[in-house]
This record gives sequence, C-alpha cells and structure tokens, in this order.
Amino acid sequence: MNASKRKRFLFPRWVNFALPVLIVAVLGGGLYAPTLVTFGFSSSTIDVGYAPIQPVAYSHALHAGELGIDCRYCHSSVENAGFAAIPTTQVCMGCHTSVRNVSEKLKPVQESWETGKPIEWVKVHDLPDYAFFNHSAHVNSGVGCVSCHGRVDTMEVVYQAERLSMSWCIDCHRNPEKHLRPRDQVTNMQYKPEAKEGESELAAQLRVGKEIKEKYKIHDEAYMTSCSTCHR
Ligand code: HEC
Ligand code: HEC
Ligand code: HEC
Ligand code: HEC
Ligand code: HEC
Repeated sequence: MNASKRKRFLFPRWVNFALPVLIVAVLGGGLYAPTLVTFGFSSSTIDVGYAPIQPVAYSHALHAGELGIDCRYCHSSVENAGFAAIPTTQVCMGCHTSVRNVSEKLKPVQESWETGKPIEWVKVHDLPDYAFFNHSAHVNSGVGCVSCHGRVDTMEVVYQAERLSMSWCIDCHRNPEKHLRPRDQVTNMQYKPEAKEGESELAAQLRVGKEIKEKYKIHDEAYMTSCSTCHR
C-alpha cells in the first residue's frame, strides 16, 4: 500500500470538513488536543518528487540557472504578498518577441500571446486550504527559496522538493537559525555564510542565523508553534 492510499484510509474526507470545528474545539477547550496532535504529526502531504507535465517545455535550469534570471523577475509578488505569482505570457514575450522567436517549443507561448488566452500551468505545490501560508512573511524574514523548494535553478522540470507536512513546517519554526540569511540573499541558490577561521559550515550558519533572528525580530518558539499561527 503506498503512502497516499494509506493517508486516504486513515484520514477520511470528513476530516477536511470537520477540521475548522475541531480546531476551534482545541483552542477552546484542549479536550481534543491529543487526538489532533497525533493526526497532525502523522500526516504526509503530497508526494515529494511530484513533477506534473507542463503545457510548455519551460526550463528553470536554463532561465534561472544558465541565464541567471532572478526568481523575482518572474515571481514578482513573493516579497509583497502571500502567494508567489506565476508570470504572465507578457513577461515571457518581453524576451521572446526577439529571442528564439522561431521555435517549436515556444509555439504555445506565441499562441497564448496572439489569442490572449493565458497558459494553463499546472500547480506543483498545493497546501490544503485550512493551512495558512504566506510567502512574504518568510522571504522578508530571510528564509531563502532553496530551503523550501530545493535547487530550482538546476531543475528542467520543477518538482516538489520537501514534504510540506505540518511537522516539516514546525521543525523549522522551532529552530529557524539553520535557515536564516540576509534578506538580499533569499533568491541566491548557493548562499553560504562566511565562516571564521576554524569554524565549520554548520557553526557559521548557526552563528549568522542567530544574529539574523535577533535583527529581524523573529517570533519566539511559543508563537511559531501555536496552532493559530497556521490555522486561522
Ligand atoms: C523566466 C521566468 C521564471 C524565473 C526567472 C523563475 N521562474 Fe519559477 N516558474 C516560472 C513558471 C512559468 C512556472 C510555472 C511552470 C512550472 O512549474 O515550471 C514556475 C514555477 C515555479 C515553482 C512551482 C510553482 C508551483 O506550481 O507550485 C517554483 C517553486 C518556482 N517556480 C520557483 C522559482 C525559483 C526559486 C526561482 C529562482 C531560482 C524561479 N522560480 C525563477 C517562471 C520563472
Ligand atoms: C530575460 C529573457 C527571457 C525571459 C523573460 C524568458 N526567456 Fe525563455 N529563453 C531565453 C533565452 C536567452 C533562451 C535560450 C535561447 C537559445 O537557446 O538560443 C530561452 C529559451 C526558452 C525556451 C526553449 C526554446 C527552444 O527552442 O529551445 C522556451 C520553451 C522558453 N524559453 C520559454 C519561456 C517562457 C515560457 C517564459 C516565461 C515564463 C520565458 N521563456 C521567459 C530568455 C528568456
Ligand atoms: C518557508 C517555505 C517557503 C519559502 C521560503 C518559499 N516558498 Fe514558495 N511555496 C511554499 C509553499 C508551502 C507553497 C504552496 C503554497 C500553497 O499551496 O498555498 C509554495 C508555492 C510557491 C509557488 C506557487 C504559487 C503559490 O504561491 O502557491 C511559487 C511560484 C513559489 N512558491 C516560489 C517561491 C520563490 C521564488 C521563493 C523565494 C523568493 C519561495 N517560493 C520561497 C513554501 C516556500
Ligand atoms: C525553513 C524554515 C521555515 C519553514 C520550512 C516554514 N516556515 Fe513559516 N516561518 C519561518 C520564519 C523564519 C518565519 C518568520 C516569523 C517571524 O517573522 O517572526 C515564519 C513565519 C510564518 C508565518 C507568519 C507568522 C506571523 O504571524 O507573522 C506563517 C503563517 C507560517 N510561517 C506558516 C508556515 C507553514 C504553514 C509552513 C509549512 C507549509 C511553514 N511556515 C514552513 C520559517 C519557516
Ligand atoms: C507551522 C505551521 C503549523 C502549526 C504551528 C500547526 N499546524 Fe496543523 N498543519 C499545518 C499544515 C501545513 C498542515 C497540512 C499538512 C498536510 O497536508 O499533510 C496541517 C494539518 C493539520 C491537521 C490535519 C491533519 C492531517 O493529517 O491531515 C490537523 C488536525 C492540525 N494540523 C492540527 C493542528 C494543531 C492542533 C496544532 C497546534 C498544536 C497545529 N495544527 C499547529 C501547519 C501547522
């Protein structure tokens, strides 16, 4: 039996509908907390490695890797909004009216441009609606894209790099030091803090992470792990 089947078996559909009610019950009384915590920590979200076929053979390895285009050129809302915008055809055509404008692979892009019909990209990451997530809160606190999405700059086709489970979120919320970096490095896929003489890479990261945690006034563990931070 594979993981997703097991999940469906353990968590019947009513869980999704009943969840808000159950959460309110937890916040209100704590009576159901032990059951719910077991639920939460045993969950495994959508498959790691999930890489749906896209309508255009668009490559991050080429655009973000080789050509070095910054993530924010296309995902322009990550710093200011909860969601990370998927670029419109217009953003692509900013280059592709002149770059390689005769190409089989670019046909669907040109078609979208001519008809005004957006390209129907398939979503790779998808949290359930009852879990609240916000990109700008992370990016502006110095959490890099690579911590959650992996080395997108080497991916021909984007795949899900992490589990996106509740325990994955909470692991980092407990100890964010391992992942914090200066804000101006959030899209740098190869960032490493400068190590002092004789200092290991991990020790350097923990030292810098701790400094940044204070500088950016990251919330304490109690807030970061409280149910209502992510279920509101
Ligand atoms: C030239 C435009 C462009 C650049 C630059 C770019 N992306 Fe993308 N990105 C896209 C498009 C188009 C999609 C939707 C198609 C796909 O999933 O490949 C996408 C999809 C994604 C997804 C999956 C979204 C989902 O559906 O869940 C992630 C994650 C992502 N990009 C991260 C990054 C990161 C990190 C960088 C910088 C290293 C980056 N992108 C740079 C255009 C771009
Ligand atoms: C900043 C400029 C720029 C932007 C923006 C850009 N591209 Fe590109 N793209 C290029 C360059 C340069 C190449 C490589 C051309 C070559 O190999 O000769 C390329 C290659 C491609 C190819 C491969 C074409 C082939 O025949 O091999 C596809 C497909 C493609 N881009 C799709 C997209 C899509 C979809 C978007 C928008 C999400 C986009 N590009 C945005 C510059 C850009
Ligand atoms: C703390 C983890 C985390 C960080 C840091 C992060 N992402 Fe995401 N990203 C996610 C999650 C979780 C989702 C799925 C959100 C959902 O389904 O509601 C997602 C979804 C996306 C999507 C799909 C559109 C959307 O908003 O659902 C894109 C594109 C994306 N991320 C790009 C980026 C880029 C670019 C960066 C860096 C500037 C980045 N992400 C940083 C966790 C992260
Ligand atoms: C790699 C580390 C990391 C991961 C993974 C991560 N977070 Fe965070 N998260 C942070 C940091 C750092 C902050 C900033 C907290 C602050 O500013 O005080 C944050 C803030 C948040 C906030 C905003 C809190 C507020 O009110 O300001 C929410 C909501 C949140 N995260 C939800 C999630 C969810 C849901 C997931 C999993 C899908 C997740 N996070 C995964 C590090 C992480
Ligand atoms: C840092 C963010 C975060 C915090 C804090 C958090 N959760 Fe969650 N929770 C999530 C995410 C993300 C999911 C969806 C995971 C999935 O789809 O597997 C989830 C799923 C759940 C589920 C559904 C379980 C399942 O397996 O589908 C329950 C119930 C739940 N959480 C209860 C709680 C309770 C009770 C607390 C407080 C003790 C809490 N959560 C704290 C992020 C969080």
